[in-house]
Amino acid sequence: MLGKRSRLFFGISVGALIISIILAVWGFPKIIRSQIQKNIQLDNSSMMYEKWRVLPMPLKFKITVFNVTNTEEINNGKKPKLQEIGPFVYKEYRERTVLGYGDNDTIKYMLKKTFIFDAEESAPFSEDDMVTVINFSYMAALITINDMMPALVSTLNMGFQEMYSQYGLDDPFITVKARDLFFDGLFLNCRGNHSSLALICSQISTTSPPTMRPTEDGSGFYFSMFSHLNRTASGPYSMVRGIENVKELGHIVSYKEKTFMNNWGSDPYCGQLNGSDSSIYPPIDENNVPKRLYTFQPDICRSIYVDFMSKTNIFNMSAYYYELSESAFASKSANPDNKCYCKKNWSGNHDGCLLMGVMNLFPCQQAPAIASLPHFYLASEELLEFFDGGIKPDKEKHKSYIMLEPNTGAVLKGVQRLQFNVELRQMKIPQLMKVPTGLFPMLWIEESAEVPPSIQEELQQNLKLIGYANTARWVILALAIIAAVVSTIVVVRATLPGWSGRNSVFVLRPTNVNGIDLNKG
Ligand SMILES: *[C@@H]1O[C@H](CO)[C@@H](O)[C@H](O)[C@H]1NC(C)=O
Ligand SMILES: *[C@@H]1O[C@H](CO)[C@@H](O)[C@H](O)[C@H]1NC(C)=O
Ligand SMILES: *[C@@H]1O[C@H](CO)[C@@H](O)[C@H](O)[C@H]1NC(C)=O
Ligand SMILES: *[C@@H]1O[C@H](CO)[C@@H](O)[C@H](O)[C@H]1NC(C)=O
Ligand SMILES: *[C@@H]1O[C@H](CO)[C@@H](O)[C@H](O)[C@H]1NC(C)=O
Ligand SMILES: *[C@@H]1O[C@H](CO)[C@@H](O)[C@H](O)[C@H]1NC(C)=O
Ligand SMILES: *[C@@H]1O[C@H](CO)[C@@H](O)[C@H](O)[C@H]1NC(C)=O
Ligand SMILES: *[C@@H]1O[C@H](CO)[C@@H](O)[C@H](O)[C@H]1NC(C)=O
Ligand SMILES: *[C@@H]1O[C@H](CO)[C@@H](O)[C@H](O)[C@H]1NC(C)=O
Repeated sequence: MLGKRSRLFFGISVGALIISIILAVWGFPKIIRSQIQKNIQLDNSSMMYEKWRVLPMPLKFKITVFNVTNTEEINNGKKPKLQEIGPFVYKEYRERTVLGYGDNDTIKYMLKKTFIFDAEESAPFSEDDMVTVINFSYMAALITINDMMPALVSTLNMGFQEMYSQYGLDDPFITVKARDLFFDGLFLNCRGNHSSLALICSQISTTSPPTMRPTEDGSGFYFSMFSHLNRTASGPYSMVRGIENVKELGHIVSYKEKTFMNNWGSDPYCGQLNGSDSSIYPPIDENNVPKRLYTFQPDICRSIYVDFMSKTNIFNMSAYYYELSESAFASKSANPDNKCYCKKNWSGNHDGCLLMGVMNLFPCQQAPAIASLPHFYLASEELLEFFDGGIKPDKEKHKSYIMLEPNTGAVLKGVQRLQFNVELRQMKIPQLMKVPTGLFPMLWIEESAEVPPSIQEELQQNLKLIGYANTARWVILALAIIAAVVSTIVVVRATLPGWSGRNSVFVLRPTNVNGIDLNKG
């Protein structure tokens, strides 16, 4: 009888041990993972869904302008002296309009951004401050025309003088209110008698760069750097919902119904849509941490990537830190993959692709804008020689990075920075006769986000629960091991005498006493 009971106990504890091991090693983690997945997948039942659809906190959108302080000198061939003005801070609200679910576990949506000036954060700067910047639309048009039909430049320049008549066109710089440059727009007049004016205006109409907004009465255009972002929703995007495979969560598979950006020609590398829209990532598998994370950036028509740097801590949570690496904007000699981003010369003096750290946006924006990191951070030093002050790359101020919470893939903090430049080029027209040729920065932007304290708390609570669950599985395992050890001892003690008993049935051994005692106790 005693032996039977202890064998039963033994059996149960071994069973419990096996079940605990399975639970601890496989079951619990799987349950936790599937609970997390349920909460982060893009389904209207998940916790993340509403936060993904309408961002609960606005991003910060900061604009820093390069005020040109020596225009007269530049017009006479001296090096530019720049002065940073800003940041002008805007709140950037993001809202997605879901159009429906698609094939292959995708969700289709439009993304609408709304920018609201934040006067408090911008102080002492205001949208009414006057800044002197390079005349982007003017330089852009002249460069485009010069590259296509050099003979026409001086004729067309006369058309420009008429177009910009209200500002007076004496040099390639313009003094404007910050608000007009960023959002409200600078008026470009298409009502004039000059035949070349009609040509310029029809050119703008046909290529319709995003920065040019036709006036309602058709009399001309408004040029502004960002108003298109505020006026129109972008997309449609198709994004993986992560229900079938959470590792694919947030992947953009198509943009404007295309799965490939053909701005860069047919090269299979440059046109790839890779990664997420930088707001949502899959959880990070700590045993297989991705070296590189991709995001697709429609504003520059390409995917870029950040490289894993280190594990770190933020808001009392452990995080994985990724930083934009040099190779994303590397010259083709440093990163041969990038050669397909070089479509056109941006300068008479350079094959644009030879230079480190700059990217020609012409194929993307239909205007000869050149992107770089702020202050030409991570770019060729040669670019800095063009200036007589005001340009100073600084890793801490100018890098782009992201910090992810590994269990949920939540973005704890992210900062993305980009500078827009245009070439200042000497040409045989009065306004550009003596200017030095070089890459001229206009402004740089910083888009940043961090989880607000309320969501930090929510995340910390959830991580605590995950921690408890993790502790619980080891506690259960430990209990099962103890039970198994105890029952093993019991069984061994109980069966040993029985076993001896069978071998010497008629011999009463003192050990029997022990066995009985144990079974009683
Ligand atoms: C969630 O989506 C399903 C369709 O997939 C719909 O039937 C349901 O009403 C939605 N629920 C909510 C709360 O919107
Ligand atoms: C920009 O520079 C000009 C000098 O060229 C100066 O008069 C102006 O005040 C500067 N703008 C701001 C906002 O500081
Ligand atoms: C879904 O995936 C299959 C196989 O990968 C592919 O052939 C098909 O085109 C995809 N459908 C859509 C709508 O992308
Ligand atoms: C953006 O558009 C909204 C209206 O949709 C407007 O209220 C807001 O002032 C605009 N933002 C800027 C910076 O012009
Ligand atoms: C171009 O530069 C000149 C130089 O001051 C400026 O007066 C003119 O208004 C500018 N045109 C535009 C469109 O900015
Ligand atoms: C254009 O021509 C009309 C008449 O031909 C004239 O009245 C007007 O002043 C001209 N406008 C300009 C900007 O030269
Ligand atoms: C896209 O991602 C794949 C790996 O997932 C990578 O090999 C490829 O280089 C990426 N393409 C671009 C343009 O970043
Ligand atoms: C961080 O966590 C520790 C212990 O988990 C706690 O004592 C501390 O108050 C937390 N700090 C913040 C800022 O939440
Ligand atoms: C760029 O211009 C240089 C000189 O003008 C020329 O040699 C080179 O072939 C051009 N490169 C491209 C990609 O057009």
